[in-house]
Amino acid sequence: KEFLKLMSTGTGILALSPALLACRSEAGKELTLPENAFSRPLSFPEEIRASEFELAAETARRKLIGGVNSDVYTLNGSLPPPTIRVKKGETLDINFQNRLDEESILHWHGLTVPPEMDGHPKDVVGPGEAYDYHFDVNQRAATHWYHPHPHGRTGSQIYHGLAGFFIIEDEEEQALNLPSGKYELPLNIQEKQINEQGQATYSLNMMDRMMGFFGNRLFVNSIHAPYHEVTTRFYRLRLLNSSNARILELSLSDDNPFYVIGSDGGLLEQPYKVSSVTLSPAERADLLVDFGRYEVGDSLRLEARTRNGMGGMMDGMMNNGEGMMDGSGGMMQNEGSGGMGGGCMMMQRSRSSDKVVPIVEFRITEEEQDSFQLPEKLTSPSFPNESEAERTRRFNLSMEMMQGSSINGRFFEMMRVDEEVPRNALEVWEFHGDRMMAHPMHIHATQFKVLDRSGGELAPHERGWKDTMLVNTDETVRVLVNFDAPEGMFVFHCHNLEHADNGMMANFEIIS
Ligand code: C2O
Ligand code: CU
Ligand code: CU
Repeated sequence: KEFLKLMSTGTGILALSPALLACRSEAGKELTLPENAFSRPLSFPEEIRASEFELAAETARRKLIGGVNSDVYTLNGSLPPPTIRVKKGETLDINFQNRLDEESILHWHGLTVPPEMDGHPKDVVGPGEAYDYHFDVNQRAATHWYHPHPHGRTGSQIYHGLAGFFIIEDEEEQALNLPSGKYELPLNIQEKQINEQGQATYSLNMMDRMMGFFGNRLFVNSIHAPYHEVTTRFYRLRLLNSSNARILELSLSDDNPFYVIGSDGGLLEQPYKVSSVTLSPAERADLLVDFGRYEVGDSLRLEARTRNGMGGMMDGMMNNGEGMMDGSGGMMQNEGSGGMGGGCMMMQRSRSSDKVVPIVEFRITEEEQDSFQLPEKLTSPSFPNESEAERTRRFNLSMEMMQGSSINGRFFEMMRVDEEVPRNALEVWEFHGDRMMAHPMHIHATQFKVLDRSGGELAPHERGWKDTMLVNTDETVRVLVNFDAPEGMFVFHCHNLEHADNGMMANFEIIS
């Protein structure tokens, strides 16, 4: 009922439903594999280890699947962008060159840097312009990432490829002798919408703007369903979900357990043996996988159960609903023609949940002695104490038809200060989910400790330092945050990128 009410507030949507019903889509075949799956080797972008370098964003044409070019954005000609690898304590000088046809600015997701170095959307630079970054990296080892942050365009620019790893190393981590070099695999997982010609497309209809942009194929390091040859030993997998909206529940195809050793903000207290790890957009997980339990000739896959984050009722209506929508996950699509009249409007975009999609195939090709011992302890976390928190702020997340998504009933405004936070304050931030969709909430310039979620236990990787935390439908999530960045304005927002681009973002100002 609520859904119908919502739909009816959107002009024209209900009027479309006869067309929707009349049209059986091929959506049921979404997220299955093309014939050439696992025919391409996994590869990794170049790594930048310098302390002074340039990052030039450009438009390009690349073959993503099959023989047809897609429009993509590259940095230094690389897709995905280069992996930045730094040591704690380094100072970086980065010259960002915007050679796109639109405004942009880079943000270092997970880092604590001064406000003018953080890529606030107000700091965008136009085509042909540049932005100079200069900051110290003074935080512990972790798997972070970087991406553009122009308001209203972030979803498009990340989708077109601008999402790279930003890895920090430190001595504490080095002492653990974790698998490194070719035994360390940064896997940047991103969902794309591939059309019949094999091109990646991004264009938003009203539903996409409201729900977020979902696709039909998962890419790893911009390669669809690659394979990778491994030896019989431990590997470290650094996972990033850089998808616009898709939530991924990752596991191994043979259901063997693996170890999660790190979260957004670095090492966990100890390795946790798990059989799956769930990553919403922007979340990272650091894993150890023991291929020593396999034999040469074996193969297995990292796969994802895909979730759209919609609440039960919503998901039912969208995907399995009898009558209203096509049972296989189709929704209307007005890409291209813009008209509703011509042909079948069912899109092959999958908003559906609960499909299992192979992401990468690991082939065990060589025997190798492994001297690596899984440490019992990884780090001694020094989390702040909730009892020392100075105040609690409440944030109600909600989705409004036609207008976008909001925080406490307000849509993002570039220069409006929504929260003033005294520097070094320790605060509890409470996010209240809505009934429509899950929201991966991200706070800039800090790592926080998740206190609890009302909907259940915290997963092992949610017990470490985090900068992005999934707030499920109807759920309240409380996080404990220490704001130790320098004074100035930062944003916090939902990392469903279309939610953020359509208003689910706010400013907080750190004041002295
Ligand atoms: Cu991934 Cu505002 O950032
Ligand atoms: Cu960020
Ligand atoms: Cu959201």
